[in-house]
Amino acid sequence: MTDNKTFYITTPIYYPSAKLHIGHTYCSVAADVMARYKRSRGYDVMFLTGTDEHGLKIEKAAKDAGKTPIEFLDEIVIGKGGITDLWKLMNISYDRFIRTTDDYHVAAIQKIFKALYDKGAIYKGTYEGKYCVPCESFWTEAQLVDGKCPDCGREVRDEKEEAYFFRQSEYGERILKLYEEHPEFLQPESRKKEMISSFIKPGLEDICVSRTSFKWGIPVDFDPGHVVYVWVDALFNYMTALGYQNEKYDDLAKFWPCDVHFVGKEIVRFHSILWPAMLMALDLPLPKRVYGHGWLVLDGAKMSKSTGNIVDPYVLADTYGVDALRYFLLSEFPFGIDGNFTNDLLVTRINSDLANNLGNLVSRSLAMADKYGLKENDGNATNLFGGKRESFHANMEQFAFQAALADVFDVLSRANKHIDETTPWLLAKDEAKRAELADVISTLLVTIRGCTELLAPFMPDSAGKILEQLDEGKRGVLFPRIIEK
Ligand code: MSP
Repeated sequence: MTDNKTFYITTPIYYPSAKLHIGHTYCSVAADVMARYKRSRGYDVMFLTGTDEHGLKIEKAAKDAGKTPIEFLDEIVIGKGGITDLWKLMNISYDRFIRTTDDYHVAAIQKIFKALYDKGAIYKGTYEGKYCVPCESFWTEAQLVDGKCPDCGREVRDEKEEAYFFRQSEYGERILKLYEEHPEFLQPESRKKEMISSFIKPGLEDICVSRTSFKWGIPVDFDPGHVVYVWVDALFNYMTALGYQNEKYDDLAKFWPCDVHFVGKEIVRFHSILWPAMLMALDLPLPKRVYGHGWLVLDGAKMSKSTGNIVDPYVLADTYGVDALRYFLLSEFPFGIDGNFTNDLLVTRINSDLANNLGNLVSRSLAMADKYGLKENDGNATNLFGGKRESFHANMEQFAFQAALADVFDVLSRANKHIDETTPWLLAKDEAKRAELADVISTLLVTIRGCTELLAPFMPDSAGKILEQLDEGKRGVLFPRIIEK
């Protein structure tokens, strides 16, 4: 491992809703693939994920469940079948997991809030909004449903509360300059256009960063009664988890600024405007990249708990296999735009790419190697990659997972074609062609090994099984064809 080749990648920290669906899994799988890929390239990787545990919604959900917030959260985050279990099942190789209720984070956020206040970046003002008395919640005009509370459907009234505000309005120019001078800061390009036209050009507003109408948040220690706005609490996780303003960790100098924050499109706004603005206010280095990926949708609509089993990652992984699911998520949809999730697509992908192309190549090649008594090094391999390896790496650096996988599967197709073109079963009938036959088997096995190395970040378990088949002579079906009843 070379010194100072580091790579810091994050997923958003997830809201502990009762059940995460395949849409949430999407980002974690993509970040995991990237972390594994960078490790395989010799980088010292920090892969951070975690949970965003404060706010009125959690306070209410816990109350409804008859639990304290922390009892409620522990069950969903670290309980059986909870978030950490899901990441284990999906083989998410995170290096660190932060919960925003962790003591070190809470204390650090209090210091950060105070530092922003001392710098004059935060001031005390009055928050005005629509208030639902039974729910004790403020809503903006836009959040109301038919002019009523979106949670309980009752009347709301104009109300005011004392609150702290962050001077976001002062950062428009600097953020535009950031986008101009560092075009890579926000990707894909379409997200940048949206941020500029929808938010920055119309003028940024100061943003309310404390609340007094509920309790479940990090207390502002110099003004009792106020709790810190969830997004201030949440965004700084990316730094507190490395030891910023706390003694728990000591990796800030090594990993900050972050190489990339992977985030879903609806939270790009917070990551590409509020986040850099707060960092600017504290004279801290900015992350190098924010990548706003698309959503997985069901027939054009956003997924939710109510869409049930079809999007339950536990059910999907159990039915189709973890690696097949991981592969599907990143091969079927371009990462930067929305993708329509259907079971048919999933089954077709597994059958065509994994069973017919990869699985078939491995089983045919190994069966021939066994039958003809030949090994990888017995002949001279022809290079079937022809530029695809370089293309794969270039695509990975751009988070173009779909294109990177297509590069590998092109090579696998070539290898399958190589079998048909060289007809090893005919070569085997002629002792004079033994060397030619050995070359064909070598070519196939070397190609399988090369492709497996590239596929390993996507399908770690299956890649391990292929290597066992190559190295230890183990045999077995890798990807059974799926026949839907
Ligand atoms: N807690 C905030 C993030 C704070 S980061 C400092 C949050 N949490 S979330 O649980 O609601 O969403 C986490 C991530 O899951 C977001 O990036 C969101 O875009 C992503 N997804 C939720 N549903 C999704 C799909 N259907 N498809 C793809 N990603 C989706 O936001």
